[in-house]
Amino acid sequence: MSLQNFLNSLDELVSEARATLGSVETNDALEALRVKFVGAKNGALKSVQKLLGAVEVPDKPAAGKRFNEVRDAIQSLLDDATARIGGGAVVKSESLPDATLPGLRPRLGQLHPITQTIEHLKEIMGRLGFTATEGPEIEDTWHNFVALNIPEDHPARDPLDNFYLATAKAANSSPQDRDAMLLRSQTSTVQIRVMESQPLPLRIISLGRVYRPDAPDATHFPMFHQMEGLWVDRNVTMAQLKSVLRLFATSYLGGDVNVRFRPSFFPFTEPSVEVDYWWNGQWIEFGGAGMVDPNVFQHLNIDSEKWSGFAFGLGVERLCMRRYGITDIRDLYRSDVRFLRQFAQ
Ligand code: DAH
Repeated sequence: MSLQNFLNSLDELVSEARATLGSVETNDALEALRVKFVGAKNGALKSVQKLLGAVEVPDKPAAGKRFNEVRDAIQSLLDDATARIGGGAVVKSESLPDATLPGLRPRLGQLHPITQTIEHLKEIMGRLGFTATEGPEIEDTWHNFVALNIPEDHPARDPLDNFYLATAKAANSSPQDRDAMLLRSQTSTVQIRVMESQPLPLRIISLGRVYRPDAPDATHFPMFHQMEGLWVDRNVTMAQLKSVLRLFATSYLGGDVNVRFRPSFFPFTEPSVEVDYWWNGQWIEFGGAGMVDPNVFQHLNIDSEKWSGFAFGLGVERLCMRRYGITDIRDLYRSDVRFLRQFAQ
């Protein structure tokens, strides 16, 4: 084929493209033209390209150059037409998926099992008259220790057992200073914050994260959750504490639950107990509790002759794990969706 003939075919093609693409008005028509000119199988450009093989060897560079120019020109005519019509909707026909294939169903997200547990606990305690409150996760030593009657030399304040922060405020302070800041090691801090800011009587719970530098294993994790409870009124007694914890346990774990108090010690309660639930044939420890220590009331200028109260702190992970039969706390925090999807609501 002569060079001239080849160039003529290209010229015809480009002028036809200019005429038709310049006036095309619908997406369907545009798509038809796209297939006609640049379709991968039988497009006009493809057919002309095949003729290139028949051009004399010395003429090939010129023919090839012109072919490329025409191809680019047609492409930009297509682009212009797409933009003019409001394009984007033009889909390459070759890339259309098989419309008969079953669709991919998007998966719905869901709440983390601990979040579900927290909501559940709030609901149960709400029915018992406890209002949910919150406190900060970054605390000062006043709320985490001092006001809770935890003396300066108490091992609970050891830097090795807490995440003290290198904040500007704390830069020059030691863990013994009132100003030192830390990630709270217990939600008992919220007891103090609530008694500081709200009038008595009080009946609150607070659910949230606490932090301790424990090496992770099946039962320990450096971050976990607690449910703190506090009831302060004129004549609150240990008997009420026991009733509340039993009602809570039967609601959460179901029918056959019993509560046992074992004598213990916490600086902020007197007397103090550890709380066990009898469940599925064994005693399981869930946390601590007791009657608010008069020293705590004193820090807050509350008259302990007039007011009494009980407090408790339970481990949320423990409750969640018992209920669902989870045996390793780390499973909760691996973010493995295969594990988490089992808790779809
Ligand atoms: N704060 C205690 C802990 O983290 C748990 C606790 C014990 C909370 C006794 C209380 C309480 O409110 O009265 O181990």
